[in-house]
Amino acid sequence: MTVAPPVDLAAGLSKLAQGLIGSEILKVSAEVRALCDAGREVCNLTVGDFSPHEFPIPKALEREIVDALHRGETNYPPSDGVKEMRAAVVSLYKDAFGMAIGIDWTLIAGGARPIIYAAYAAVVDPGDKVIYPIPSWNNNHYTYFTRGVPVELAVGPETNFLPTAEQIRPHVRDARLICICTPLNPTGTVMAREEVEAIARLVVDENARRATTGERPLFLMWDQVYWQLTFGEFRHWTPPQLVPEAAPWTIFVDGISKAFAATGLRVGWVVAPPYIVARMRDILGHVGAWAPRPEQIAVARFLGMRDEVAAYHETMIAGLRERLDLLHDGIEAMRRDGIPVRAIDPQGAIYLSAQFDLIGHAGITTNEQIRKLLLERAGFAVVAFQAFGLKQETGWFRLSAGAVSPDDIRNGLARVRRVLETL
Ligand SMILES: Cc1ncc(COP(=O)(O)O)c(C=O)c1O
Repeated sequence: MTVAPPVDLAAGLSKLAQGLIGSEILKVSAEVRALCDAGREVCNLTVGDFSPHEFPIPKALEREIVDALHRGETNYPPSDGVKEMRAAVVSLYKDAFGMAIGIDWTLIAGGARPIIYAAYAAVVDPGDKVIYPIPSWNNNHYTYFTRGVPVELAVGPETNFLPTAEQIRPHVRDARLICICTPLNPTGTVMAREEVEAIARLVVDENARRATTGERPLFLMWDQVYWQLTFGEFRHWTPPQLVPEAAPWTIFVDGISKAFAATGLRVGWVVAPPYIVARMRDILGHVGAWAPRPEQIAVARFLGMRDEVAAYHETMIAGLRERLDLLHDGIEAMRRDGIPVRAIDPQGAIYLSAQFDLIGHAGITTNEQIRKLLLERAGFAVVAFQAFGLKQETGWFRLSAGAVSPDDIRNGLARVRRVLETL
Protein backbone atom coordinates (compact mmCIF):
# COMPACT_ATOMS: atom_id res chain seq x y z
CA MET A 1 0.00 0.00 0.00
CA THR A 2 1.32 3.47 -0.81
CA VAL A 3 0.36 6.46 1.28
CA ALA A 4 0.62 9.98 -0.12
CA PRO A 5 3.25 11.90 1.87
CA PRO A 6 1.85 14.78 3.95
CA VAL A 7 4.29 17.29 2.45
CA ASP A 8 6.20 17.57 -0.79
CA LEU A 9 9.16 15.43 0.19
CA ALA A 10 11.31 16.69 -2.68
CA ALA A 11 11.15 20.18 -1.14
CA GLY A 12 13.25 18.83 1.71
CA LEU A 13 16.19 17.97 -0.56
CA SER A 14 19.29 20.12 -0.90
CA LYS A 15 19.10 23.36 -2.87
CA LEU A 16 21.65 21.84 -5.27
CA ALA A 17 19.42 18.84 -5.95
CA GLN A 18 16.28 20.93 -6.29
CA GLY A 19 17.84 23.38 -8.71
CA LEU A 20 19.47 20.82 -10.98
CA ILE A 21 18.03 20.40 -14.47
CA GLY A 22 18.12 16.81 -15.74
CA SER A 23 19.22 15.84 -19.25
CA GLU A 24 16.88 17.41 -21.79
CA ILE A 25 17.94 14.90 -24.44
CA LEU A 26 16.93 11.91 -22.34
CA LYS A 27 13.43 13.39 -22.01
CA VAL A 28 13.11 13.63 -25.80
CA SER A 29 14.44 10.08 -26.16
CA ALA A 30 11.70 8.75 -23.87
CA GLU A 31 9.09 10.33 -26.17
CA VAL A 32 10.69 8.69 -29.19
CA ARG A 33 10.73 5.30 -27.48
CA ALA A 34 7.01 5.64 -26.69
CA LEU A 35 6.24 6.29 -30.39
CA CYS A 36 8.38 3.33 -31.48
CA ASP A 37 6.66 1.10 -28.91
CA ALA A 38 3.33 2.19 -30.43
CA GLY A 39 4.55 0.79 -33.78
CA ARG A 40 5.45 4.07 -35.52
CA GLU A 41 8.44 4.24 -37.87
CA VAL A 42 10.83 6.83 -36.43
CA CYS A 43 14.20 7.98 -37.75
CA ASN A 44 15.84 8.52 -34.35
CA LEU A 45 18.47 11.23 -34.63
CA THR A 46 18.25 12.27 -30.98
CA VAL A 47 20.79 10.45 -28.84
CA GLY A 48 24.53 11.15 -29.05
CA ASP A 49 25.01 7.42 -29.08
CA PHE A 50 25.51 4.50 -31.44
CA SER A 51 23.41 1.51 -32.30
CA PRO A 52 25.75 -1.48 -31.86
CA HIS A 53 24.17 -2.93 -35.03
CA GLU A 54 25.20 0.09 -37.09
CA PHE A 55 28.47 0.85 -35.27
CA PRO A 56 29.83 -2.08 -33.22
CA ILE A 57 32.91 -1.62 -31.02
CA PRO A 58 36.24 -2.83 -32.47
CA LYS A 59 36.49 -6.63 -32.42
CA ALA A 60 40.03 -6.53 -31.02
CA LEU A 61 38.84 -4.37 -28.13
CA GLU A 62 35.99 -6.76 -27.37
CA ARG A 63 38.45 -9.69 -27.37
CA GLU A 64 40.83 -7.92 -25.01
CA ILE A 65 38.03 -7.15 -22.54
CA VAL A 66 36.92 -10.79 -22.47
CA ASP A 67 40.54 -11.97 -22.08
CA ALA A 68 41.13 -9.53 -19.21
CA LEU A 69 38.03 -10.81 -17.43
CA HIS A 70 39.12 -14.41 -17.94
CA ARG A 71 42.50 -13.56 -16.44
CA GLY A 72 40.71 -12.33 -13.30
CA GLU A 73 41.35 -8.58 -13.70
CA THR A 74 38.32 -7.84 -11.55
CA ASN A 75 39.53 -5.97 -8.49
CA TYR A 76 39.75 -2.19 -7.89
CA PRO A 77 41.90 -0.34 -10.38
CA PRO A 78 44.39 2.20 -8.95
CA SER A 79 42.58 5.49 -8.29
CA ASP A 80 44.42 7.29 -11.09
CA GLY A 81 44.09 4.42 -13.53
CA VAL A 82 45.89 1.24 -14.52
CA LYS A 83 49.51 2.03 -15.45
CA GLU A 84 49.29 0.44 -18.94
CA MET A 85 46.27 2.59 -19.74
CA ARG A 86 47.95 5.79 -18.59
CA ALA A 87 51.04 4.88 -20.59
CA ALA A 88 48.83 4.23 -23.65
CA VAL A 89 47.41 7.77 -23.36
CA VAL A 90 50.93 9.22 -23.10
CA SER A 91 51.97 7.34 -26.23
CA LEU A 92 48.78 8.32 -28.12
CA TYR A 93 49.25 12.02 -27.34
CA LYS A 94 52.92 11.88 -28.32
CA ASP A 95 52.07 10.38 -31.70
CA ALA A 96 48.98 12.49 -32.38
CA PHE A 97 49.96 15.88 -30.93
CA GLY A 98 53.72 15.69 -30.36
CA MET A 99 53.22 16.12 -26.59
CA ALA A 100 56.08 14.93 -24.39
CA ILE A 101 54.45 14.20 -21.01
CA GLY A 102 54.87 11.75 -18.13
CA ILE A 103 52.10 9.46 -16.93
CA ASP A 104 51.51 11.83 -14.00
CA TRP A 105 49.78 14.04 -16.62
CA THR A 106 47.05 11.41 -17.02
CA LEU A 107 44.09 10.12 -15.05
CA ILE A 108 41.63 7.47 -16.19
CA ALA A 109 37.94 7.61 -15.22
CA GLY A 110 34.57 6.03 -16.00
CA GLY A 111 34.03 8.03 -19.19
CA ALA A 112 34.55 11.70 -20.01
CA ARG A 113 31.70 12.97 -17.81
CA PRO A 114 33.47 12.36 -14.48
CA ILE A 115 36.57 13.94 -15.98
CA ILE A 116 34.62 17.09 -16.86
CA TYR A 117 33.02 17.22 -13.44
CA ALA A 118 36.39 16.80 -11.71
CA ALA A 119 38.00 19.44 -13.95
CA TYR A 120 35.34 21.96 -13.00
CA ALA A 121 35.55 20.98 -9.32
CA ALA A 122 39.35 21.28 -9.35
CA VAL A 123 39.51 24.82 -10.73
CA VAL A 124 36.16 26.61 -10.29
CA ASP A 125 35.22 28.21 -6.96
CA PRO A 126 31.68 29.45 -6.29
CA GLY A 127 31.34 32.81 -8.02
CA ASP A 128 34.12 32.14 -10.57
CA LYS A 129 33.27 32.98 -14.17
CA VAL A 130 33.08 30.12 -16.67
CA ILE A 131 33.05 31.03 -20.36
CA TYR A 132 31.49 28.70 -22.93
CA PRO A 133 29.61 28.92 -26.20
CA ILE A 134 25.89 28.37 -26.61
CA PRO A 135 25.00 25.90 -28.00
CA SER A 136 27.39 23.50 -26.25
CA TRP A 137 27.07 20.27 -24.35
CA ASN A 138 26.28 20.41 -20.62
CA ASN A 139 28.59 23.29 -19.64
CA ASN A 140 25.53 24.99 -18.16
CA HIS A 141 24.95 22.00 -15.89
CA TYR A 142 28.58 21.63 -14.76
CA THR A 143 28.78 25.37 -14.08
CA TYR A 144 25.67 25.04 -11.95
CA PHE A 145 27.18 22.09 -10.04
CA THR A 146 30.24 24.10 -9.09
CA ARG A 147 28.29 27.31 -8.42
CA GLY A 148 30.25 29.10 -11.12
CA VAL A 149 28.90 32.16 -12.90
CA PRO A 150 28.12 31.36 -16.55
CA VAL A 151 29.38 33.64 -19.31
CA GLU A 152 27.48 32.27 -22.28
CA LEU A 153 28.66 33.35 -25.72
CA ALA A 154 25.95 33.08 -28.37
CA VAL A 155 27.48 31.56 -31.49
CA GLY A 156 25.83 31.07 -34.87
CA PRO A 157 26.37 29.82 -38.38
CA GLU A 158 28.50 32.87 -39.25
CA THR A 159 31.36 31.43 -37.11
CA ASN A 160 30.53 27.81 -37.83
CA PHE A 161 28.86 27.72 -34.39
CA LEU A 162 32.27 28.02 -32.70
CA PRO A 163 33.41 30.82 -30.41
CA THR A 164 36.21 33.06 -31.62
CA ALA A 165 39.09 34.52 -29.63
CA GLU A 166 37.58 37.98 -30.29
CA GLN A 167 34.27 36.94 -28.70
CA ILE A 168 36.08 35.51 -25.68
CA ARG A 169 38.60 38.36 -25.19
CA PRO A 170 36.30 40.90 -23.45
CA HIS A 171 35.43 38.33 -20.75
CA VAL A 172 38.80 36.82 -19.77
CA ARG A 173 40.00 39.47 -17.33
CA ASP A 174 38.25 37.93 -14.31
CA ALA A 175 37.28 34.52 -15.70
CA ARG A 176 38.48 31.19 -14.29
CA LEU A 177 37.70 28.71 -17.03
CA ILE A 178 37.12 28.71 -20.77
CA CYS A 179 35.40 25.57 -22.10
CA ILE A 180 35.98 24.64 -25.70
CA CYS A 181 34.76 21.51 -27.44
CA THR A 182 35.94 20.67 -30.95
CA PRO A 183 34.60 18.93 -32.98
CA LEU A 184 31.61 20.43 -31.24
CA ASN A 185 28.61 18.65 -29.80
CA PRO A 186 25.89 19.60 -30.92
CA THR A 187 26.99 21.18 -34.20
CA GLY A 188 29.53 18.78 -35.71
CA THR A 189 31.81 21.71 -36.58
CA VAL A 190 35.58 21.87 -36.18
CA MET A 191 37.59 24.84 -34.89
CA ALA A 192 40.10 26.23 -37.40
CA ARG A 193 43.81 26.26 -36.63
CA GLU A 194 44.05 30.09 -36.41
CA GLU A 195 41.26 30.25 -33.83
CA VAL A 196 42.79 27.48 -31.67
CA GLU A 197 46.06 29.38 -31.75
CA ALA A 198 44.41 32.73 -30.94
CA ILE A 199 42.50 31.29 -27.97
CA ALA A 200 45.64 29.57 -26.64
CA ARG A 201 47.55 32.86 -26.96
CA LEU A 202 44.76 34.68 -25.11
CA VAL A 203 45.04 32.26 -22.18
CA VAL A 204 48.84 32.52 -22.08
CA ASP A 205 48.78 36.33 -22.20
CA GLU A 206 46.13 36.60 -19.50
CA ASN A 207 48.07 34.24 -17.23
CA ALA A 208 51.27 36.24 -17.83
CA ARG A 209 49.39 39.30 -16.59
CA ARG A 210 48.03 37.42 -13.54
CA ALA A 211 51.53 36.17 -12.68
CA THR A 212 52.43 39.77 -11.91
CA THR A 213 49.37 40.38 -9.70
CA GLY A 214 49.11 37.07 -7.83
CA GLU A 215 45.58 36.37 -9.16
CA ARG A 216 44.55 32.73 -9.65
CA PRO A 217 45.02 31.51 -13.21
CA LEU A 218 42.67 31.18 -16.16
CA PHE A 219 42.24 27.55 -17.29
CA LEU A 220 41.24 26.14 -20.65
CA MET A 221 39.17 22.95 -20.77
CA TRP A 222 39.68 21.32 -24.16
CA ASP A 223 36.97 18.71 -24.66
CA GLN A 224 38.15 16.68 -27.62
CA VAL A 225 36.14 13.48 -27.23
CA TYR A 226 35.35 13.59 -30.97
CA TRP A 227 38.84 14.44 -32.25
CA GLN A 228 39.36 11.03 -33.86
CA LEU A 229 36.15 11.60 -35.86
CA THR A 230 37.23 14.59 -37.94
CA PHE A 231 36.49 14.40 -41.65
CA GLY A 232 37.81 15.39 -45.04
CA GLU A 233 39.89 18.55 -45.17
CA PHE A 234 38.99 19.44 -41.56
CA ARG A 235 41.76 18.82 -39.06
CA HIS A 236 41.77 18.76 -35.29
CA TRP A 237 44.23 21.05 -33.48
CA THR A 238 45.18 21.40 -29.82
CA PRO A 239 46.35 24.56 -28.02
CA PRO A 240 49.80 23.28 -26.88
CA GLN A 241 50.61 22.13 -30.44
CA LEU A 242 50.35 25.73 -31.60
CA VAL A 243 51.28 27.62 -28.42
CA PRO A 244 53.41 25.34 -26.19
CA GLU A 245 53.24 27.82 -23.26
CA ALA A 246 49.48 27.01 -23.03
CA ALA A 247 50.20 23.50 -21.68
CA PRO A 248 50.25 24.47 -17.95
CA TRP A 249 46.65 25.74 -18.19
CA THR A 250 45.10 23.26 -20.64
CA ILE A 251 42.91 20.41 -19.40
CA PHE A 252 42.21 17.83 -22.13
CA VAL A 253 39.01 15.80 -21.84
CA ASP A 254 39.00 12.61 -23.91
CA GLY A 255 37.89 8.99 -24.00
CA ILE A 256 36.74 6.02 -26.02
CA SER A 257 32.97 6.61 -25.88
CA LYS A 258 32.65 8.34 -29.23
CA ALA A 259 35.98 7.47 -30.86
CA PHE A 260 35.23 3.73 -30.75
CA ALA A 261 31.41 3.72 -30.51
CA ALA A 262 32.00 2.48 -26.96
CA THR A 263 29.63 4.63 -24.90
CA GLY A 264 28.67 1.74 -22.63
CA LEU A 265 32.21 0.68 -21.76
CA ARG A 266 32.98 3.82 -19.70
CA VAL A 267 36.63 4.67 -20.22
CA GLY A 268 37.69 8.33 -20.35
CA TRP A 269 40.80 10.28 -19.45
CA VAL A 270 42.25 13.67 -18.72
CA VAL A 271 45.60 14.99 -19.85
CA ALA A 272 46.65 17.99 -17.78
CA PRO A 273 49.58 19.15 -15.66
CA PRO A 274 50.20 16.92 -12.61
CA TYR A 275 49.19 19.66 -10.14
CA ILE A 276 45.66 19.57 -11.60
CA VAL A 277 45.49 15.83 -12.26
CA ALA A 278 46.44 14.92 -8.67
CA ARG A 279 43.48 16.86 -7.27
CA MET A 280 41.11 15.52 -9.90
CA ARG A 281 42.22 12.02 -8.90
CA ASP A 282 41.36 12.74 -5.26
CA ILE A 283 37.97 14.25 -6.17
CA LEU A 284 37.03 11.26 -8.33
CA GLY A 285 38.50 8.82 -5.82
CA HIS A 286 35.83 9.85 -3.33
CA VAL A 287 33.12 9.48 -5.98
CA GLY A 288 34.54 6.11 -7.06
CA ALA A 289 34.15 7.00 -10.73
CA TRP A 290 36.91 4.70 -11.95
CA ALA A 291 36.81 2.98 -15.30
CA PRO A 292 36.38 -0.79 -14.87
CA ARG A 293 39.75 -2.51 -14.58
CA PRO A 294 39.36 -5.12 -17.37
CA GLU A 295 38.33 -2.38 -19.78
CA GLN A 296 41.28 -0.17 -18.89
CA ILE A 297 43.68 -3.01 -19.62
CA ALA A 298 41.85 -3.87 -22.84
CA VAL A 299 41.77 -0.26 -24.07
CA ALA A 300 45.49 0.13 -23.29
CA ARG A 301 46.30 -2.87 -25.47
CA PHE A 302 43.89 -1.88 -28.21
CA LEU A 303 45.23 1.69 -28.44
CA GLY A 304 48.66 0.17 -28.98
CA MET A 305 47.39 -1.65 -32.10
CA ARG A 306 47.74 1.39 -34.32
CA ASP A 307 46.90 -0.47 -37.56
CA GLU A 308 43.67 -1.91 -36.09
CA VAL A 309 42.71 1.52 -34.77
CA ALA A 310 43.31 3.12 -38.18
CA ALA A 311 41.34 0.41 -39.99
CA TYR A 312 38.46 0.73 -37.53
CA HIS A 313 38.31 4.49 -38.01
CA GLU A 314 38.38 4.19 -41.77
CA THR A 315 35.23 2.06 -41.65
CA MET A 316 33.56 4.06 -38.90
CA ILE A 317 34.17 7.42 -40.53
CA ALA A 318 32.93 6.12 -43.89
CA GLY A 319 29.73 4.97 -42.15
CA LEU A 320 29.26 8.26 -40.35
CA ARG A 321 29.97 10.33 -43.44
CA GLU A 322 27.52 8.31 -45.50
CA ARG A 323 24.78 9.06 -42.98
CA LEU A 324 25.70 12.71 -42.38
CA ASP A 325 26.06 13.34 -46.13
CA LEU A 326 22.66 11.77 -46.78
CA LEU A 327 21.12 14.07 -44.18
CA HIS A 328 22.98 17.11 -45.42
CA ASP A 329 22.29 16.47 -49.11
CA GLY A 330 18.64 15.61 -48.49
CA ILE A 331 18.04 18.83 -46.54
CA GLU A 332 19.95 20.96 -49.03
CA ALA A 333 17.92 19.42 -51.89
CA MET A 334 14.74 20.52 -50.08
CA ARG A 335 16.24 24.00 -49.69
CA ARG A 336 16.89 24.20 -53.43
CA ASP A 337 13.23 23.30 -53.97
CA GLY A 338 12.14 26.30 -51.88
CA ILE A 339 11.53 24.57 -48.53
CA PRO A 340 12.88 26.79 -45.70
CA VAL A 341 15.57 24.41 -44.42
CA ARG A 342 19.37 24.28 -44.59
CA ALA A 343 22.27 22.24 -43.24
CA ILE A 344 25.95 22.86 -42.50
CA ASP A 345 28.57 20.65 -44.16
CA PRO A 346 29.53 17.69 -41.98
CA GLN A 347 32.99 18.31 -40.50
CA GLY A 348 33.39 15.98 -37.54
CA ALA A 349 31.78 14.15 -34.60
CA ILE A 350 28.50 12.32 -35.26
CA TYR A 351 26.31 15.38 -35.71
CA LEU A 352 24.85 17.64 -38.34
CA SER A 353 23.49 21.15 -37.72
CA ALA A 354 20.25 21.71 -39.60
CA GLN A 355 17.85 24.62 -39.60
CA PHE A 356 14.12 24.04 -40.04
CA ASP A 357 13.27 27.69 -40.47
CA LEU A 358 9.56 27.30 -39.78
CA ILE A 359 9.07 30.04 -37.19
CA GLY A 360 6.18 32.15 -38.51
CA HIS A 361 4.82 29.33 -40.74
CA ALA A 362 1.50 27.66 -39.85
CA GLY A 363 1.35 29.39 -36.47
CA ILE A 364 4.72 28.00 -35.34
CA THR A 365 6.53 30.18 -32.80
CA THR A 366 8.99 27.85 -31.04
CA ASN A 367 11.62 25.21 -31.77
CA GLU A 368 9.66 22.87 -29.54
CA GLN A 369 6.68 23.12 -31.91
CA ILE A 370 8.98 22.37 -34.86
CA ARG A 371 10.45 19.38 -33.01
CA LYS A 372 7.00 18.00 -32.24
CA LEU A 373 5.81 18.55 -35.82
CA LEU A 374 8.81 16.67 -37.23
CA LEU A 375 8.43 13.87 -34.68
CA GLU A 376 4.68 13.40 -34.70
CA ARG A 377 3.92 14.01 -38.37
CA ALA A 378 7.16 12.85 -40.04
CA GLY A 379 8.60 10.35 -37.55
CA PHE A 380 11.83 12.38 -37.66
CA ALA A 381 13.31 12.76 -34.17
CA VAL A 382 15.78 15.59 -33.64
CA VAL A 383 17.02 17.71 -30.71
CA ALA A 384 16.63 21.49 -30.67
CA PHE A 385 19.68 23.61 -29.80
CA GLN A 386 17.62 24.64 -26.76
CA ALA A 387 18.81 21.36 -25.18
CA PHE A 388 22.31 22.84 -25.43
CA GLY A 389 21.48 26.09 -23.69
CA LEU A 390 20.17 28.19 -26.59
CA LYS A 391 17.44 30.65 -25.63
CA GLN A 392 16.49 32.05 -29.04
CA GLU A 393 13.91 30.29 -31.24
CA THR A 394 16.06 29.95 -34.35
CA GLY A 395 14.92 26.67 -35.87
CA TRP A 396 18.38 25.08 -35.44
CA PHE A 397 18.57 21.40 -34.52
CA ARG A 398 21.13 18.66 -33.86
CA LEU A 399 20.84 15.54 -35.99
CA SER A 400 22.84 12.63 -34.56
CA ALA A 401 23.78 9.88 -37.00
CA GLY A 402 25.15 7.05 -34.84
CA ALA A 403 21.99 5.09 -34.19
CA VAL A 404 20.33 5.00 -37.63
CA SER A 405 20.84 3.15 -40.91
CA PRO A 406 21.12 4.91 -44.28
CA ASP A 407 17.66 3.57 -45.12
CA ASP A 408 16.20 5.00 -41.91
CA ILE A 409 17.53 8.37 -43.06
CA ARG A 410 16.24 8.08 -46.65
CA ASN A 411 12.76 7.13 -45.41
CA GLY A 412 12.78 9.80 -42.71
CA LEU A 413 13.79 12.54 -45.14
CA ALA A 414 11.06 11.51 -47.58
CA ARG A 415 8.48 11.88 -44.79
CA VAL A 416 9.89 15.27 -43.77
CA ARG A 417 9.69 16.50 -47.37
CA ARG A 418 6.05 15.41 -47.65
CA VAL A 419 5.10 17.17 -44.42
CA LEU A 420 6.98 20.39 -45.17
CA GLU A 421 5.71 20.59 -48.76
CA THR A 422 2.12 20.65 -47.48
CA LEU A 423 2.71 23.02 -44.55
C1 LIG B 1 31.35 16.92 -25.91
C2 LIG B 1 31.18 15.76 -25.02
N1 LIG B 1 32.02 15.59 -24.00
C3 LIG B 1 31.89 14.55 -23.15
C4 LIG B 1 30.89 13.62 -23.31
C5 LIG B 1 30.76 12.51 -22.32
O1 LIG B 1 31.27 11.31 -22.79
P1 LIG B 1 31.23 9.98 -21.91
O2 LIG B 1 30.15 9.12 -22.47
O3 LIG B 1 32.58 9.35 -22.10
O4 LIG B 1 30.97 10.33 -20.50
C6 LIG B 1 29.98 13.76 -24.36
C7 LIG B 1 28.86 12.81 -24.51
O5 LIG B 1 27.91 13.02 -25.20
C8 LIG B 1 30.13 14.86 -25.24
O6 LIG B 1 29.31 15.03 -26.27
